Amino acid sequence: MLKVINVVGARPNFMKVAPLVAAMKRREREFTPLVVHTGQHYDEQMSDAFLRDLELPQPDVCLEVGSASQAQQTAAIMQKFEPVLLREQPDWVVVVGDVNSTLACALVAAKLGIKVAHVEAGLRSRDRTMPEEINRLLTDQIADLLFTPSQDGDNNLRAEGIAEQRILFVGNIMVDSLLKYLERARRSPIREQLDVAERAYSVLTLHRPSNVDDYETFSGIISALAKIASRIPIIFPVHPRTRKTIAALGLSQALEKIEGLTLIEPLGYLDFLGLYGNAQLVMTDSGGLQEETTALSIPCLTLRENTERPITVTMGTNRVVGTDPQRIVDAAFEALERKVSTGSATMPPLWDGNTATRIVDALAGQLVAKTQL
Ligand code: UD1
Repeated sequence: MLKVINVVGARPNFMKVAPLVAAMKRREREFTPLVVHTGQHYDEQMSDAFLRDLELPQPDVCLEVGSASQAQQTAAIMQKFEPVLLREQPDWVVVVGDVNSTLACALVAAKLGIKVAHVEAGLRSRDRTMPEEINRLLTDQIADLLFTPSQDGDNNLRAEGIAEQRILFVGNIMVDSLLKYLERARRSPIREQLDVAERAYSVLTLHRPSNVDDYETFSGIISALAKIASRIPIIFPVHPRTRKTIAALGLSQALEKIEGLTLIEPLGYLDFLGLYGNAQLVMTDSGGLQEETTALSIPCLTLRENTERPITVTMGTNRVVGTDPQRIVDAAFEALERKVSTGSATMPPLWDGNTATRIVDALAGQLVAKTQL
């Protein structure tokens, strides 16, 4: 029997951990899965709504760390996670993605000699000003098993000198959740509530510090949005960090006066999937949404200078357009004129809804690295 601690902390973790816990619960003779929630995200719409929508069990342990600086938050998670590991003595700690909770929990486990598996390993933006890039680099160095979503991840890990037997290409775990909940999400009343017709609106998300904490960049993006909104309605679920910086930078008025731009509260998993899944265009600085739009063949513009998910560009529907206002407007108009067409993407290999099964097989020792999948 393998005792596995699955770590969740922030919004993008829940859709990655839910299929893993479900797969372990289906194999109750082999696995005892526990869920530890660090509390990095804590608002109802950033956490509980996702637990509910994704049918995750209530966490076995809540560390309740809350928001703080990078160092303080990472340190608080480490301090509170260590006694949990000493008490539970799991066989594996599974961490996902690239948030502070990912690195903090991996580090504590590695130092206690407890095996660590990193799901979504190997992604690199090569931009070390992003806190996530530091989290990725360090987590991958100390984890025992590195589960990659795409083969560029394998190549990055090899180039960093990571031994071949620690790397396993398993596909994209988020697609497991996406495929499982797509039908349910289509029944969400969100489009009626917002009064938008299928494929006749766009969706925007912004929360990267480089975009929303900087006045010049954020106001430049807003000027681009004003032009785009004259052609297509934009629905903007606002991340709490962004909500705060809009107020702090004095940008509320500039946003409010754009006709066609609707600011709403963050949405739960099903409503958000129901919304972006029927959009004509998505504009975002999120990592996960670049992948989710590729999986659904929806044109996506990434408002960043780089991406750690190049496969969404080479095989998918993503275009990395940066934050220059004119470039954003040009790319959006081009996409709306269907020069970037919906349905043109190819699903990347192993984005097939069976990634959790492969990971659980590997944890049980039934699937080993270098196996031809
Ligand atoms: C974090 C992740 C980022 C991920 C994002 C998804 C890191 C370094 N960053 O960024 O990779 O894409 O989550 O959402 O781990 N806040 C609330 N309520 C909450 C959570 C946050 O009000 O439930 C506010 C707080 O003011 C907080 C700010 O948002 O200071 C930022 O939260 P934090 O978790 O530090 O980073 P995110 O920007 O959410």
